Parts: sequence; structure tokens; C-alpha cells
Amino acid sequence: MRSVSDRSRALKGSPIRRLVPFATAAKKRGIHVYHLNIGQPDIPTPESFMRGVREADIDVLSYAPAPGIHATLEALIAFYADMGVALSDDEIRITIGGSEAFAFALQITCNPGDDVLVPEPFYPNYNGHAVMNGINIVPITTKVEEGFHLPPIEEIREQVSPKTKAILFSNPGNPTGVGYTRDELKGLVDLAIEHDLFVISDEPYRELMYEGHATSILEFPELGERAILVDSISKRLSACGARIGCIVSRNPEVIAAVDKLCQIRLSAPTFSQLGLVSFLNDPDYATAIEDIRTQFHSRRDTLFEALQTIPGAVCRKPEGAFYIFVKFPQIDDSEEFVKYMLNEFDLDGETVMVAPGAGFYATPGVGHDEVRIAYVLEESKLLRAVEILKAGIEAYAASREGAVTTAG
Ligand SMILES: Cc1ncc(COP(=O)(O)O)c(C=O)c1O
Repeated sequence: MRSVSDRSRALKGSPIRRLVPFATAAKKRGIHVYHLNIGQPDIPTPESFMRGVREADIDVLSYAPAPGIHATLEALIAFYADMGVALSDDEIRITIGGSEAFAFALQITCNPGDDVLVPEPFYPNYNGHAVMNGINIVPITTKVEEGFHLPPIEEIREQVSPKTKAILFSNPGNPTGVGYTRDELKGLVDLAIEHDLFVISDEPYRELMYEGHATSILEFPELGERAILVDSISKRLSACGARIGCIVSRNPEVIAAVDKLCQIRLSAPTFSQLGLVSFLNDPDYATAIEDIRTQFHSRRDTLFEALQTIPGAVCRKPEGAFYIFVKFPQIDDSEEFVKYMLNEFDLDGETVMVAPGAGFYATPGVGHDEVRIAYVLEESKLLRAVEILKAGIEAYAASREGAVTTAG
């Protein structure tokens, strides 16, 4: 029997979704599960977007043009102009979510065997695309105690080799919520210029920043053709299912390659592109995004404060996105802990699912005492979830002690 490719076998399942069958089993037993494991918010998608989808006057649901519907591209160019970034229509293409945009960015910038520097913990799907394209992720480890901000640039420079082609990061970050300062980004920008590297900045959470301003990579004109912006409406519009993102580059060779990839994948969803035109043409669109940001801001503060009630929890208040990455000294194996919460624990018929930390690192052996919590539910549910988590951590620690004592 022929086996599948080595790359397919090397591919790891998403640490965010891999344990979902245990949640399904818990629900079958009648347990209510608070899902804080996945970045799927419960906030309604803005009405102007939904109206655009509902009122689309279409007889034939045809393919959209490969680079994107003209009106959608125009509306996005106006959106970036509102942000203070001038783009021409040669510099932007619509993709199937940010996911396709960073997959394109990796495929276009790297040959198999090339290295990409990525601050860890990082969004695990980078790893999947790196594996499928034979690209090596070289991690730059960041720490909870430092709020996951970058180490000094000299330490990052030590990781650059002749094989390094790009620096890739999300800002504000998933899974940490870190929002890099302008100075941190300037350090990366200068390093990229010094070593002739691409900078791939993944910014789906750019509008979800609660402390200061989220600096876009497009705010560094000196980067010129080396900058690649990966963007998405999934999070800032609470429209994950729309599957609409975009890739922006001022490099004609990059855009020419994006065009070919767009052609071989045909098109991004038509209805969603029409929904986005309707949203961006609404004069109040910025208020709708601000409403979503305000809700997440309040949830962040509520969750952060509640987490302080769990003994030993180590976390810094994240600046953006909608995640908190927390270290718990009571947890020695966060994957086992997540399974324990789903298989063995409940508080009055309820439990919590979070994402285990190790899957967000490339460095082996790190993150086993950490979990990512997504504040995608309303505040009363977050408070209840922390209550359950606190009780679960206590019970887990006691059960591990019991196991050690019995074994000893
Ligand atoms: C950092 C980051 N980049 C990209 C994505 C992909 O988003 P989408 O493909 O829905 O735009 C996500 C989704 O969670 C993310 O967290």
C-alpha cells in the first residue's frame, strides 16, 4: 500500500482543535462546556455586512475575479487610506481569509529548506504551512514574565543565518495578546533591511488593541518591497465564516506570484466580498469596529482580574487580540490538564475547555505549564469559566499528587 507524503505525516493537528472530540464526548454526557479554546467570538457580525449578503442581487452565483471583486478591492483601499496608508490597486489582493494570505506569503518568499524567524509562542497554523512547504521555523522564545515582548535585537540577530528568508509574526499576537511597540517593530525592520529579509506581518487583530496604537508593518515605508501584510476581517468584524482576508505588498514580483496563486485557487467567496463592500461603504463602519473593540476590552479586563484569584497564575495584561496566555505552576502537562477538565471534571455539570500551551511553541519541552484562554464569550460566562477553571486546577493538582503518592 502506497503511503502518504512525508510532509503529510509530519503535519501535526491543530492544538486548538485536536482535543475537541473530548469536548463532544463531555457534551454527550450532559456536561456544559465553556469553549475558551478557539478564537471564535460570540459577538454578532455587523448588520451592514449581513445586509450586503442578504440583499445581494445575484442570479448566478459565479466565481468572483481571482484577485477579488473590483468594488471590494476599492473599498479595502479606502479602508487602508482611512488608516493613513495609501495603496494602489497593484498592491492588494483578496484572499480566502488571512490563512490563505500567510500560506501564500510563505510559499512566495521561501524555498524548501529556508528558515523563517518566528517569535514563539505563535499561531500554530504557521507551523502547518511551514511543514507542507519544507520551510524551517526558527523560534525566538518570548516569556510570560516579560509579557511576551521581544528579546533584545542582538539575541534575535544571532538566529539569522544565510538560510533566513523572512520574519513572520502576528501583531497583536495570537496566542499571547502582545502588541509590539513601535520600537520593537523598528528593531525588526532594521534587522530585515540589514539582512535583506522579508517581514510578514499578520494583523487580523490590529483594530483589537486596548493599550495604545497597534502599529502596522505598512507604517514603515523604509521596508519597501520587503513588507508583506497579511490581513483578515474574521476577528475585527466577528466574521470568521466569511473567509475574507487580503495580502498587501509593494513588491511587484510578490504580487505577480500572488496573482498566479489566486488564479489556481480560482476565487474568494462572492457573497462575503459583497457583504464587505456593504460594510465598508456604510459611513458608520468605524463605529461598528469600535463597538466590537470595546466589548473585547471590557472582557479582557474582566478575565484578567478574575485570573488573579487563581493561586500562582502568572500572566501580564495583554495589550490586544482576545487571548491571555497563562502559566499555572499546578499544571505539569497542559494537554493532560485539558483532557482532565473534559473527561473527569465538572462543577455542577459544567466545565471549561482551554488550549494547551505546548502546541504554540516550536521549541520542544516548553509550554507544558501554560494554556491559552480566548475571551470570546460574554463576561458573566467568563467569570463562571474562571470559577470552574480554579476548581478544576485544584482538583487536577490533587489528583496528580495522589497519582505520585500511589505510584511512589
Ligand atoms: C494570528 C492569526 N492569523 C491568521 C488567522 C486566520 O484567520 P482567518 O483565516 O479566519 O482570517 C488567525 C485565526 O485565528 C490568527 O489568529
